[in-house]
Amino acid sequence: MVERGDILDQDFVRSLPTFDVVYSWGVLHHTGDMWQALRNVATLLSDRGRLCLALSNDQGWRSKIWRLVKRCYCASTLGKCAICAVFIPYVVIRCCCSSVVRRRNTFAEYGKNTRGMSLFYDWFDWLGGYPYEVASVGEVVDFFSRHGLRVEKIKAVNNHGCNEFTFVKQ
Ligand SMILES: C[S@@+](CC[C@H](N)C(=O)[O-])C[C@H]1O[C@@H](n2cnc3c(N)ncnc32)[C@H](O)[C@@H]1O
Repeated sequence: MVERGDILDQDFVRSLPTFDVVYSWGVLHHTGDMWQALRNVATLLSDRGRLCLALSNDQGWRSKIWRLVKRCYCASTLGKCAICAVFIPYVVIRCCCSSVVRRRNTFAEYGKNTRGMSLFYDWFDWLGGYPYEVASVGEVVDFFSRHGLRVEKIKAVNNHGCNEFTFVKQ
């Protein structure tokens, strides 16, 4: 069964049963209230259930700048045009340089082994990804240990991508 709902809607969350596996990749940091969303998903786990999550990595001031860029992009048409005027040439030049250095067409190869999105879709998806919150690995692990979840596996990044976690309900 497929159902659509808002993870911040308490009535919707309460109406759901518990699950052996709860999976959320790159979603909860875009809800506008990430910590409440994390609290809500934790209630959806049955005993010894697994929670698989991907959440944007906290990169300090870099994350704050990206948040500002995304906010500006989503605020108005003018903001979107201004951000595109800077980022589209940047992405094109970067890919041209990488194609020359690697002697491969970076545009054509982009995303083949990842999410399958084209370079431009991926960039627009990234720029438009607002609300945007971030968390460090430590913050997420501490948070869930206070909610009775033990960390089973972590795949951490050291860039603006997502840290991936598997937690088990004790
Ligand atoms: C970056 S996309 C998810 C990426 C996708 N999981 C993937 O693997 O490519 C973020 C998603 O979060 C969803 N989202 C944002 N706020 C939400 C909320 N309050 N409840 C449920 N989903 C929400 C949006 O609808 C959007 O589909």
